[in-house]
Amino acid sequence: MSKKYELKNLTSGKTSEHKAISGTIGPDVIDISNLTKEQGAFTFDPGFMATASTESKITFIDGDAGVLLYRGYPVEQLAEKSNFLEVATLLINGTLPTKPEIEAFTDSITRHTMVNEQLLGFFRGFHHDAHPMAMVSAVVASMAAFYHDTMHIGDPRHREIFAHRIIAKLPTIAAAAYKHTLGQPFIYPRNDLRYCSNMMNMFFAVPCEPYGIDPVAAEALDLLFILHADHEQNASTSTVRLAGSTGTNPYAAISAGVSALWGPAHGGANEAVLDMLDSIGSVANIDKFLSRVKDKNDNVRLMGFGHRVYKNFDPRAKIIRDMCYKVLQKMGKSNNPLFELSLRLEEIALKDDYFVSRKLYPNVDFYSGIIYSALGIPRSMFTVMFAIARTAGWVAHWQEMVSDPNMKIGRPRQLYTGPIKRDYQPIEKR
Ligand code: CMC
Repeated sequence: MSKKYELKNLTSGKTSEHKAISGTIGPDVIDISNLTKEQGAFTFDPGFMATASTESKITFIDGDAGVLLYRGYPVEQLAEKSNFLEVATLLINGTLPTKPEIEAFTDSITRHTMVNEQLLGFFRGFHHDAHPMAMVSAVVASMAAFYHDTMHIGDPRHREIFAHRIIAKLPTIAAAAYKHTLGQPFIYPRNDLRYCSNMMNMFFAVPCEPYGIDPVAAEALDLLFILHADHEQNASTSTVRLAGSTGTNPYAAISAGVSALWGPAHGGANEAVLDMLDSIGSVANIDKFLSRVKDKNDNVRLMGFGHRVYKNFDPRAKIIRDMCYKVLQKMGKSNNPLFELSLRLEEIALKDDYFVSRKLYPNVDFYSGIIYSALGIPRSMFTVMFAIARTAGWVAHWQEMVSDPNMKIGRPRQLYTGPIKRDYQPIEKR
C-alpha cells in the first residue's frame, strides 16, 4: 500500500493528505504539490535542506553511508575501470556504451574540439589577470551566439550536437583562458590525442619546442574528471536546471552553471583549500588555525571539509587521497609538504569533537588541488578543471529535464517580510 502523510493546521484543524513517492533507492519524498490548494500555505525551506527539487535517474548519493552511484554504478568501480568519456556517455544516455557507441562518441568529441576562430578573439578583450572562471563563463555564454544553428531544444539531434560541442570545446576554451593569462599563443587541439592528453597539450605546449605529454598526468586528470563528473542536484547543476527550465539557450544555461560553481562553498573550494594550506604554513600551526575555525566570531572555515549531503566520508575524497600517494610517487614528488600538511590536518580534525559532532569530513575538494598542482596546473585553473568535468553532469541533467514532456519552469515562492502596502511620498515630504 502506498504511504500517505497528513498535514494538520493546529489552529484551524484543517488537514490535507499528501502521498509519499518512492524512488528506486533512498528516502521517500512527500508530494506537496496540492498543499497550497488545500492549506493556502507554502513550504519554507531555505537552502533546500529538506526539499527534492526534481526527479532524476542520473546520480544517487547516500550521504550517511558515503555512497555515490552514477546511473547505478559505484563511483569506485568507474574510477578503477572506466574513463571520462565513457562516464560522460553513461551519464547522458543512461547505459554503458557498446564498443561502436563509445568509438563514435569519442570520434565526435575529438572532431568538435576546435572553436570558431572569432570566438577566440573574445580573449583579447580580457585583462591578463582576469580570473579564468570569469573568462570561461563569459566565453561559454557567447557560444550561444556562434552555434545557434542547432538550437531547437525539442529536437533530440540538436540536443546531441550541443552535448558533443560543449563537452569537446570546454577544454579548448579553458586552455585559451590559461594561455591568455600567460600571454602565450593559443595551442590548437590535436585530433591524434585523447581527451585529457589533448587538454594537457593545449595547456602546456608552446609553438617553439616539442612538448612531451606525461601519461601519468593524463591518467590522473582523467580519473579526477570521472570523480567530478556529476553529483546530483548540487548548486551548479540546480542552476543549469533552473536556467534551462525557461527554455533558454543551453550554452547560456551551462554558463550559469559555471558561474554557480565558482563560489568557495562549491567548486571554488579546491582553490581555497590550497590558499588555506599556504596560510597555515606548517603542522605546528594547525592547532592555532583550528581554534580560529571553531571560533564562531572568526568566520574561518576548514575548506575542503563538510558537505550538505555527506555526513560520512565523501567517497571521492578517499579515492583522491589514495591517488595523491600514487601520482606524487610516480611523478617523483613524494615529498610534498602541502600533502603532508593536509594529511595531518585531516587527522587532527577527525579527532576533534567540533568536526566529529557536526559530521564534517574531507570532501572532493580537500585533496584534488594537491594533484592539480603536481600536474603543473595553476591554482586559478582548479575550478575550471572541475567545470570541464562537471559539464558532463550538467549536460546529462539538462537533457533529462528538457526531454521530459512534463518539464515546468522552475519558479520558487517566498516568505515576504518587506513593508506592507504604502503610498508613494513626494521627495519634499520624505
Ligand atoms: N569548517 C568549519 N565548520 C563547518 C564547516 C567547515 N568547513 N562546514 C560546516 N561547518 C559547521 C557550520 O559552522 C555549522 O556549525 P553550527 O551548527 O555550529 O552552526 C555546521 O557545521 C553545519 O554547517 P552548514 O554551513 O549549515 O552546512 P551546509 O550543509 O549548509 O554547508 C558546505 C555545506 C559544504 C557549504 C560547508 O560544509 C562548507 O562551507 N564547507 C567548506 C567549503 C567546501 O569545502 N565546499 C566544497 C563542498 S564539496 C564540493 C562541491 O560542492 O563543490
